[in-house]
Amino acid sequence: MGDSDDDTPQLSAATLAALQEFYAERDGLVNETAANKYSVGAIEEDWRMSQFWYSEETATRLAQEVIQQAGKSGRIACLSAPSVYQRIKQLQTAKFEGSEGVSAMVLEFDRRFSAYGEEFIFYDYNNPLCLPEEVGPQSFDIVIADPPYLSEECLSKVAITVKYLTKNKILLCTGAIMEEHAKKLMGLKICSYIPKHNNNLANEFRCYVNYDSQLLS
Ligand SMILES: C[S@@+](CC[C@H](N)C(=O)[O-])C[C@H]1O[C@@H](n2cnc3c(N)ncnc32)[C@H](O)[C@@H]1O
Repeated sequence: MGDSDDDTPQLSAATLAALQEFYAERDGLVNETAANKYSVGAIEEDWRMSQFWYSEETATRLAQEVIQQAGKSGRIACLSAPSVYQRIKQLQTAKFEGSEGVSAMVLEFDRRFSAYGEEFIFYDYNNPLCLPEEVGPQSFDIVIADPPYLSEECLSKVAITVKYLTKNKILLCTGAIMEEHAKKLMGLKICSYIPKHNNNLANEFRCYVNYDSQLLS
């Protein structure tokens, strides 16, 4: 066999077109798989862990809010709020304004979310400060939290973690009945915006913030 260019096997135009189609389809599949990986509900609700995922609209609204509030190159902690983390990732893929420089971490009790690799941190509200060494105090520009239980005991432990992690901004989603505790523990104000879930919950749900937000009006 010679080694000149003339000896290099050539593909016919038809074979080349078929090959290009194959790669286009394959890449489409890869992109679709990546998008699905972060869709809300990609990891199914497990009611034993008090999991109730946000509706599409709410996941988007809250993700946009934390991206905007985090600011350029901001860091976002999603504490027991994995849908918001997932939607942030999707908004980044969609190049939502201001999302390119931000980073997000998902702090979760459910280890299925370790599928998100280094952006997953195991978190149990019963051990509020049991966090990896590299997660320092005030290392996030904003923390969004949605505690698993509607009790003062749970919220007061979650508040310890939230206050440790945030530089200042807090966005909490929990029951309307927690308003006084949210105010007392973290200085939060109730918002007009009403978060919705995929499956309707018996309890009235609300958002709370400690900064000036459009969610308030
Ligand atoms: C009411 S759901 C909030 C989810 C939110 N609505 C969303 O769509 O992302 C409560 C969350 O707390 C998590 N969780 C359950 N037990 C927990 C624990 N011991 N410590 C911290 N988080 C816990 C659940 O996995 C779930 O994601």
